[in-house]
Amino acid sequence: MNMKFNLLVVDDEKNIREGLGTSLEMDGYNVLLASNGEEALKILNSKELDLIITDLRMPVLSGQELLKKVISSNPGLPVIVLTGHGTIETAVNAMRDGAYDFLTKPVNLDRLTLLVKRALQGRELATEHKALKAEVERLKSRQKFSRMIGKSSGMMRVMEIIEQVASTKASVLITGESGVGKELVADAVHELSDRKGKAFIKVHCAALSESLLESELFGHEKGAFTGALARKRGRFELAHMGSIFLDEIGEIDQSTQIKILRVLQEKKFERVGGEETVEVDTRIISATNRDLKEEIEKGSFREDLFYRLNVVQIHVPPLRERKEDISLLASSFLEEFSKENNKGVEGFEHKAMTALHSYNWPGNIRELRNCIESAVVMCHGNVITVDDLPPALQDTTDQNCIRICTGSSLAEAEKKIIIETLNSQKGNKSKTAEVLGIGRKTLHRKLAEYELDL
Ligand SMILES: Nc1ncnc2c1ncn2[C@@H]1O[C@H](COP(=O)(O)OP(=O)(O)OP(=O)(O)O)[C@@H](O)[C@H]1O
Ligand SMILES: [Mg+2]
Repeated sequence: MNMKFNLLVVDDEKNIREGLGTSLEMDGYNVLLASNGEEALKILNSKELDLIITDLRMPVLSGQELLKKVISSNPGLPVIVLTGHGTIETAVNAMRDGAYDFLTKPVNLDRLTLLVKRALQGRELATEHKALKAEVERLKSRQKFSRMIGKSSGMMRVMEIIEQVASTKASVLITGESGVGKELVADAVHELSDRKGKAFIKVHCAALSESLLESELFGHEKGAFTGALARKRGRFELAHMGSIFLDEIGEIDQSTQIKILRVLQEKKFERVGGEETVEVDTRIISATNRDLKEEIEKGSFREDLFYRLNVVQIHVPPLRERKEDISLLASSFLEEFSKENNKGVEGFEHKAMTALHSYNWPGNIRELRNCIESAVVMCHGNVITVDDLPPALQDTTDQNCIRICTGSSLAEAEKKIIIETLNSQKGNKSKTAEVLGIGRKTLHRKLAEYELDL
């Protein structure tokens, strides 16, 4: 069953130590025993351990001291502390020092079984998260796109095109839904071109009114309009020798469209209110989440401008079409926000990861990023659970569902639902029986039958 896990039980009372040991061995774990903190440390130095269960008050080296040493030398190794009645305060202190959880004596063996199971699951998830982190690092170092994460074929294709076109002067039109990462693509095109290090000017076209946008783009002469107190250079001029990013290009009005077309065709323009012709050498990158072909048909976007902008098109697929990227992105955002908020969140519970994969992400990566940020803030433990996720995501998973594969026997299915219900009721047997719709006696009989009653 769980043969791979090594558990260490530390208690100076022989009966307790051996009793717990036997019980955990029956659960299928490898169990090692120590009668004080010092013995425990010796074992810790010579064996790979997965979990420690320790008494607090012990001679030679106390549980508190052992806990502190373990936390500093093996962070992530879960430690469950045992405490006698009336010493809850000590237990709370131990939790503060980094213990995974505590159990009061006499130890309820059902609770112990559940707690151990949960702690080891968390440990597996943390390892899984580490593996994902390593993959993110590997991808980042292999690719020239340090900030762009993804391994899906859709993203690989995007990266391939970026590499191909970056060094050319061709205009690039980036398309895709809101939040897919169009701006990151634009950054990468500039960064990988030989214009890197020169100006990279970004203009958010939708944010400015028609007249403001014109003077922003092309600049104006002194006195061109009320408030034009001095000559101002426009964004095109500032982007000379570098690149300009026209974000939300689908939002610009007809007269500005004509002027931009001229810059594309002749590399020339005049400042607002001026006669002098300014020449620029700039690489044009634009982006839109609109269907420009449709806008052309409606007559709101110029076809000739579209063809000039769309020399190379990079379409960034929506996140729901590249779900393979979700784990990598989620792990990377988790790392970022865990650091930013000084939280030791180390991974995702399986159900939470499943929820992230079931959701269809209408707001794409921006929504995923915000979702992970809020989950990290909400998270109490060191693993993100379904409860930490925003409500929209919780709807997609039925938390009360368990997976039973075809090929299982009825007995296996029954055992599974009993364990999961016990788990969800935190080991409380009366509540478990109530939820399952059976009497307490029946539950006990079944627990014994499935060797769950220890
Ligand atoms: N592949 C990726 N790897 C890591 N982060 C990403 C990736 N793609 C997008 N992001 C992040 O998601 C957020 C949204 O990306 P971005 O602003 O580039 O989207 P957009 O397509 O320009 O959206 P909009 O159309 O709304 O302007 C940003 O915080 C960005 O850093
Ligand atoms: Mg954008």
